[in-house]
Amino acid sequence: MSHGEAETEAAGERLGTSLQAGDVLLLNGELGAGKTAFVRGLARGAGCVGDVLSPTFQLLRLYGGRVPLAHVDLYRLSRPSDVADLGLEEILEVGAAAIEWGDRLAWPGVASLEFEVLGHSVRRLTLTGAPEHWSW
Ligand SMILES: Nc1ncnc2c1ncn2[C@@H]1O[C@H](COP(=O)(O)OP(=O)(O)OP(=O)(O)O)[C@@H](O)[C@H]1O
Ligand SMILES: [Mg+2]
Repeated sequence: MSHGEAETEAAGERLGTSLQAGDVLLLNGELGAGKTAFVRGLARGAGCVGDVLSPTFQLLRLYGGRVPLAHVDLYRLSRPSDVADLGLEEILEVGAAAIEWGDRLAWPGVASLEFEVLGHSVRRLTLTGAPEHWSW
């Protein structure tokens, strides 16, 4: 349970410290649920520098760091085949990926984090399919 943006970022940062190349996290939840806030913490934990912005108008942003992080937002995905053109396979050889609106992809066996808005600043975060090495 998260009771504010800072708490969601902190959960992301904790997971980020354990992130390894090849890791993928799908983030699902309504608009304003806190997906980008979580990725901001995730990037910090992964040792990435630079501001994490909502990538809504850009399908993918890449942050360099201890573990490079691809930040993907599929909200405005028009053709599922566009995902194949992102070069994610290449990125995952050296880095990790966090994918907002990840339920728009059929990617079985990949970890996913569900955000439920329970109140103005209360969110329930449910992680499933996480690899053993993740701190949660
Ligand atoms: N517990 C919380 N965790 C995260 N954000 C919260 C929380 N409580 C309130 N908020 C607010 O909710 C908003 C979350 O915005 P954010 O951009 O992270 O959402 P999002 O899920 O990425 O939305 P979108 O689908 O539009 O990309 C912020 O304005 C933040 O301040
Ligand atoms: Mg977002």
